[in-house]
Amino acid sequence: MAKVHITTLAHTWALAYLHPETIALDATCGQGNDTLFLSKHAKTVYALDIQSEALEAAKKRCIDCSNILYHQKDHSLVDTLALPPLDLVMFNLGYLPKSDHQITTKPETTAIAIQKAALLLKQGGALLITSYLHDQGSERDAVLKTLLSIPKLAITRSYRNDSLASPLLLEAVKVFK
Ligand SMILES: C[S@@+](CC[C@H](N)C(=O)[O-])C[C@H]1O[C@@H](n2cnc3c(N)ncnc32)[C@H](O)[C@@H]1O
Repeated sequence: MAKVHITTLAHTWALAYLHPETIALDATCGQGNDTLFLSKHAKTVYALDIQSEALEAAKKRCIDCSNILYHQKDHSLVDTLALPPLDLVMFNLGYLPKSDHQITTKPETTAIAIQKAALLLKQGGALLITSYLHDQGSERDAVLKTLLSIPKLAITRSYRNDSLASPLLLEAVKVFK
């Protein structure tokens, strides 16, 4: 079977939540690949990253986009930003390629960020999470455990290419009452 590019698939799934009124959060902005995609389809995109280097690269990539608000912030502190209700939150976990691999997402803070992002989601809104095995699976375990522990959140889709080491893409939707 042909291999699917996981970022492309994440963008394809994201389209279900993207329209001219969408408020989106990129919780791991990195160099702005996902932010740029979201910006083209949403009303407003909040872009968070812990690293200034990443945000500067994203700002360059998205120089023509006027609907992005950048914050250098640990996503586990997302509740301190007073964001409006969100339609879509993307997490592309791990570290910036070609950068310091020590600056990476971590199980504990990722779990908190997912819990807080789920609270900010509108009913019918979604989390899209791409998780890697950069730490022998600890973060992926934390992601799954956290998603399964949140009431009103349903894991609706998942995809991984055939190798066990491939990234896992998860969609979790905040269900209506
Ligand atoms: C795989 S990269 C993201 C790629 C990005 N979405 C793109 O399209 O280029 C993961 C990013 O998460 C960031 N990161 C790590 N820990 C974080 C945290 N606690 N809060 C927010 N961002 C974090 C890293 O700095 C890195 O830029």
